[in-house]
Amino acid sequence: MLKTVIYSGFIAIALLSLSGNEKPYFSNPTAQEIETLIDQMSIEEKVGQTCQITLDAIHQTDNKGQALIPERIDQAKLKEALEEYHVGSILNVGWHTLSLDEWKSVMTDIHAPYLKKEQNIPILYGIDAIHGVNYTIGGTLFPQEIGLAATWNTELARQMGEVTAYECRASGIPWNFSPVLDLGRQPLWSRHFETLGEDPVLGTQMGLALVEGYQGSGQTVDQFHAAACLKHFVGYSASFSGRDRTPAFIPEKYMQELYLPAFKAAVEKGALTLMINSGVVNGIPGHANYKLLTQTLKKDWAFKGFVVSDWEDFIMLHTVHRTAPSLADAAIQAFNAGVDMSMVPSNPQYKTYCKDMIQAVKSGKISMERLNDAVRRILYVKNQLGLFTNPLPAFDQYPLFGSSKFKAMAKQAALESITLLKNESNLLPLSGQQRILVAGPGAASLNMLNGAWTHTWQGLDTSFNTKGVLNIYQSVRQQFPSSQISLQQGVELYLENDFEASRYKDLNAYKKALKKNDVVMLCLGELPSTEKPGDIRSLQLDDKQKELVRLAKAAGKKVILVLLEARPRIINDIEPLCDAIIQAYLPGDHGGAALAELITGKADFTGRLPYTYPRYDGVIEFYDHPRSVDRSKSGDFKAYNPQWDFGFGLSYNTGKVKNMRFVNKDEQKGTFSIEVNVSNEGQKPILMVVPIYISDLYASTTPENKRLIDFQKVSILPGENKTLAFSFDANALKRVSADGQWRAEKGTFEIRCAEEMLNYELFNDLLF
Ligand code: BGC
Repeated sequence: MLKTVIYSGFIAIALLSLSGNEKPYFSNPTAQEIETLIDQMSIEEKVGQTCQITLDAIHQTDNKGQALIPERIDQAKLKEALEEYHVGSILNVGWHTLSLDEWKSVMTDIHAPYLKKEQNIPILYGIDAIHGVNYTIGGTLFPQEIGLAATWNTELARQMGEVTAYECRASGIPWNFSPVLDLGRQPLWSRHFETLGEDPVLGTQMGLALVEGYQGSGQTVDQFHAAACLKHFVGYSASFSGRDRTPAFIPEKYMQELYLPAFKAAVEKGALTLMINSGVVNGIPGHANYKLLTQTLKKDWAFKGFVVSDWEDFIMLHTVHRTAPSLADAAIQAFNAGVDMSMVPSNPQYKTYCKDMIQAVKSGKISMERLNDAVRRILYVKNQLGLFTNPLPAFDQYPLFGSSKFKAMAKQAALESITLLKNESNLLPLSGQQRILVAGPGAASLNMLNGAWTHTWQGLDTSFNTKGVLNIYQSVRQQFPSSQISLQQGVELYLENDFEASRYKDLNAYKKALKKNDVVMLCLGELPSTEKPGDIRSLQLDDKQKELVRLAKAAGKKVILVLLEARPRIINDIEPLCDAIIQAYLPGDHGGAALAELITGKADFTGRLPYTYPRYDGVIEFYDHPRSVDRSKSGDFKAYNPQWDFGFGLSYNTGKVKNMRFVNKDEQKGTFSIEVNVSNEGQKPILMVVPIYISDLYASTTPENKRLIDFQKVSILPGENKTLAFSFDANALKRVSADGQWRAEKGTFEIRCAEEMLNYELFNDLLF
């Protein structure tokens, strides 16, 4: 008893002695000083740190609740959130992209209380800048992640991360909810385009490069970089129905081999934050999964940063997933599972959250230790970002925002992403003599080039599009004598009862225009969408758009099909009618210019599919399938028959792969190094993707026919012969064995690069 009295007396003296304004104020707290901060915080203040609200909860609105333009903070709402609820984080953008001036005004208001020392903990602001700073007017827009993956160029991914972080910071934002590390293995899913494709090795390498670009490679994150947020941990992309936020079933083996590796690698690289899967995996909502969040992520992987929920997901444990009988129970469940910050995010919900949490801590349903752990993690990230020193950047230190230098990088990413899938009789590059009709709903649409998360959440509003950017039709006109190029949309897409619908638009004019042209460049695809609004009922490409292809072919024209797709839509019926097919994915603002240069041959196609393009609606298969998937009715092994395989893509000029050889190998330890020669026997420089695949011939769990273990993208000058080196340790051989253990099982492996093949014999099992 005496001990307690003396101890609490000591704390009181220590706090009193801190300063006249009773709160300790540190501009760059050490770990010990962070403990001091935590010690002096009330439960209310600690809970506030775990609460994230949206900008809509604190901005000025008109009497209909609509945000004012320009965007301005409502001081009374801000004061209430910060002073009464001690909110620690804010996100988002209202309903549309903001100018740099608006961001400056918003951020200046938000950080004023900290800078005036009315608060001693800075606010952390987060945003979804997922393909460039898509919520700041004039920012640089890159391809969406699926296109980035198609470049197979990690340096471009790093650059995209770095430019995006810089432009986020120029907007006053130090935290980016990116990259998506979900695996793109459910083509129906509305967010397939946000992934880095279907392969864990490609996804991991590109994801790591993005994280490095976002955060930089220093010990802390400087004023030109931003915290990454790995999302959505884990299995969100594998929904069985294909609809957003619906259950996934992922056996432990595939969780380990396919879905977790990119997250694990990015955590090991030092990614500062991670966002949770809104869906349900194997019956357990992502936000209630103690094993994944606390055991795997925090204990086994030693993740030092913090975990943020997805939008309203504490609430959804009660209202949607029904694992919690009340909102209060939902908060307790998610927080105790290991989520550190709740994206509540609206008003008055955030107030309920804070009250429920305070009560839960007071009643012991959430321990003080757990609350402190969450707050410690959040303060650690704030400190890593330099926010205690100054949360408000000097807005004039970002002269490169929206610069031509950055835009050239985004265009290069678009150029290297766009993938040529068919080129019958070398229709491409176009000679420049033909009359070209650019048609289809994507022909003159910047929105269809960019997709969702562009200026608005769904990316549909045309009024915020980047000024001065050319769409496909305008870009093609720049490359050829403009008199040769004409435009007819033929079909327009619109929303009907929340689903995409289509109707003919000036179909007769389209038919007439066909007669006057030699080549029809049909830009087909889908309206921008993401999350629930992007749910679809069939993978088929809309039939009215297909009709444009049929009409063009019936008129005897050469057809170039350009796909602007958020996911691979089924086109097997029109594929034979097309002379050339180009997968543009969602290449961003510079996609039109890139496409025009590619079809003229000013640039070569170097993109390669980051997923297996399905041929049929009902047959979804992946390149790394087991042999049983190959087995056909007749008993041969040719059943695997996607429209195009993972890694596929054509180029005008290609290099040759020769002479793959072992430089080193230790068949006891499971290590090996190989070299391979790549040469350019043509007249033009080439840029070439060189992937290395491995096949485990026999194993305790059915082996894949092949799987990617590494790749490089190399440039080779005419006449040049380069040696590429690849080194592997036993990790390249390991798989999850029948007993659930990671193991490289002894036996024969085939290593392949193009037509080259080597055998590797592992002499004994290696356990991990
Ligand atoms: C999405 C997240 C996003 C968050 C914040 C959610 O609805 O699932 O990917 O980061 O909103 O905007």
